Amino acid sequence: MMEPKPRALITGAGRRVGAEIAKQLHDEYDLILHSRALRTEAHVAATRFEALRAGSARLVTSELGDEGSRAALCADIGDEPLDLMVLNASRYRRSDLAADPAQRNAELRTFLEVNVVSAWDLALRLRPQLTAGVALRGDASIVVILDLYAQRPLPGYEAYSISRAAGGMLVQALARAFGPDGIRVNGVAPGTVLWAEGDDRAETMAQLARGTALGRIGTPGDVAGAVRYLAAARYVTGSVLPVDGGRATHV
Ligand SMILES: NC(=O)c1ccc[n+]([C@@H]2O[C@H](COP(=O)([O-])OP(=O)(O)OC[C@H]3O[C@@H](n4cnc5c(N)ncnc54)[C@H](OP(=O)(O)O)[C@@H]3O)[C@@H](O)[C@H]2O)c1
Repeated sequence: MMEPKPRALITGAGRRVGAEIAKQLHDEYDLILHSRALRTEAHVAATRFEALRAGSARLVTSELGDEGSRAALCADIGDEPLDLMVLNASRYRRSDLAADPAQRNAELRTFLEVNVVSAWDLALRLRPQLTAGVALRGDASIVVILDLYAQRPLPGYEAYSISRAAGGMLVQALARAFGPDGIRVNGVAPGTVLWAEGDDRAETMAQLARGTALGRIGTPGDVAGAVRYLAAARYVTGSVLPVDGGRATHV
């Protein structure tokens, strides 16, 4: 009988960067593919994975900004060992500093809930399953997808940038806390690889490309490659790997 593959949970796996991460991990992992709500793209991808290897893809849904929904997601994932968790889903949009105080405070809280508290909550709730992964295969890890804008603010996207900076500390704090269990925690900080829907930044892709050392923007595949590297790098923890074509060198 074939040995079962390691299990990986990917949040926001239905489309865009998350879908590419799923594609690149499928050879090595059985996938639990999270989306906020059931999407046709996620169904199509899961059906394709299942055709390649039966039992290798399962769809789950959860609103990550809601604690009850996150608890239900973790119950759905079950008690079996988990080898990898890729926290890719995020809220990305403009924040309005001129909005009334109640509105702008609520806005920041929502960013923190979706981009930080949900990662904290899933990591801690699923720690026993990750520990079981370590017991089974000697390694388990979490990879949090962050952003270049964790390091320097994107004008107009202040609440988003603040939440991403907190995500950087979350990686380091959980790496330290989970290290004794053998669970590694790392991050990937992409520069722009795909223009977000509704993004109204003034720069164009060409301008962004000129701001990198390599003179080009990246691809979702570049981000997925970094996730694969960190998932396999058994002596790397607490690191955030920039995948930005050297954009940080141009600031
Ligand atoms: N695209 C880039 O160039 C770029 C650059 C730097 C960093 N990043 C980071 O890389 C990751 C992937 O990028 P992307 O552009 O593919 O991201 P995206 O399209 O903005 O969103 C990724 C996923 O997050 C899910 N999501 C958002 N809010 C959610 C919520 N409240 N509950 C549950 N799911 C939620 C979305 O699910 P639904 O579709 O079901 O709503 C979506 O599939 C993100 O963390 C992003 O911040 C991307």
